[in-house]
Amino acid sequence: TYVVTESCIRCKYTDCVDVCPVDCFREGPNFLVIDPDECIDCAVCVPECPVNAIYAEDDVPGDQQQFIKINADLASSWTSITKSKGALPDADEWKDVKSKLAELVK
Ligand code: SF4
Ligand code: F3S
Repeated sequence: TYVVTESCIRCKYTDCVDVCPVDCFREGPNFLVIDPDECIDCAVCVPECPVNAIYAEDDVPGDQQQFIKINADLASSWTSITKSKGALPDADEWKDVKSKLAELVK
């Protein structure tokens, strides 16, 4: 599966969802996750993300490993998003902030 990591928090550009052939993105208030039961590992979403938040599970950086479980856990309670709706209003102010896990709204 592919995994959305910390860079997405409070940005949520949503460019990624338009290209997913199996509609496996799920949306929360300020973050998206990928449903690991649906992702077919096609990788087309990776270059769409302006903040490079999406990684193959095997390539998730060491300091982002907790996001594998976060994606799996939140995918079951969040709802599907299949069309881009633009970024959060202050996305550009948050895109370079490194530690944002405390900002994640579930
Ligand atoms: Fe969707 Fe492919 Fe990205 Fe998985 S890797 S979330 S199937 S676009
Ligand atoms: Fe998040 Fe990047 Fe998609 S910021 S919503 S993973 S385009």
